[in-house]
Amino acid sequence: MYILGTKEEVNNNLQILRNNNKTIGLVPTMGALHQGHLELVKIAKQYSDIVVVSIFINPTQFNNQEDFEKYPKTLDKDLELLDKSGVDYLFLPETMEIYPSKPMLSIDFGHLDKILEGSFRPGHFNGVGIVVSKLLNIVKPHTAYFGQKDLQQVAIIKRLVQDLSFDVEIQVVATVREKDGVALSSRNLRLDSDSRQAARIISKALFFAKSELLDGRPWLSIRKKINQMFESEPKAKLEYFELVTSDSFYVLEGIGEEKNVSICTAAYFGDVRLIDNISIFD
Ligand code: PAJ
Repeated sequence: MYILGTKEEVNNNLQILRNNNKTIGLVPTMGALHQGHLELVKIAKQYSDIVVVSIFINPTQFNNQEDFEKYPKTLDKDLELLDKSGVDYLFLPETMEIYPSKPMLSIDFGHLDKILEGSFRPGHFNGVGIVVSKLLNIVKPHTAYFGQKDLQQVAIIKRLVQDLSFDVEIQVVATVREKDGVALSSRNLRLDSDSRQAARIISKALFFAKSELLDGRPWLSIRKKINQMFESEPKAKLEYFELVTSDSFYVLEGIGEEKNVSICTAAYFGDVRLIDNISIFD
């Protein structure tokens, strides 16, 4: 695996491959890699000739300075995992390479960045939109791979690509979970053992709510049960648990005719905030 630090190095290495009709796949990450990231790499290797992973802890997407500073860094292990997974190039830029100066641009995604993650993490999706735009412009991949784990991020990126006519295909990869249902996340590293145990409540609640919905129970009564579930877990503090349209993120009161719907949730375990979601019809 080759490590590239600058835009120029990326250009010099990838242009030749592009000229030889190789397809390039990009997997953007912030490091602290786990099996969820590696699943993206695995799928990328199936669909793209050349796989580029980026690791960049993007300061502009953290609305909380402490969260940014505490973001786990496990570079040596990341390098080993990527090398073993057969990644061709790692783009590992310094902050100055990506942000020679503070961007003046800010991206307003309308409704999409005002609800759920957008409302609890103001500015977050602006930062994601800016850095993903930069990564797409630098790497110029044919396909970029993102996890369904961050469903609202997927919706944001699809709109970004559509609205700015980026010449890239976005491929979404299903969420990878631990055996007990907890979605893999770099933030899980910050959970103490009691909180890690308590975190099971998130996927339990999602799976339960999905099956109740499919059994025809009304959403409002399901939501009541979910609130009770969370109230009986002292380590957990539920932030939101909403039924939404999966692309446009409109909040629903029931499934009705709409087929592309998901439940999205966020909860705190101590100072660690976890998110997860489930699609209702697949
Ligand atoms: P990061 O949190 O490192 O995630 C990188 C990619 O891995 C994202 O597309 C995310 O959805 C995916 N991912 C994380 N956990 C997963 C899991 N359990 N199963 C499947 N995929 C999973 O998301 C970001 O970084 C950043 O916002 C980024 C897009 C890199 C922009 O800075």
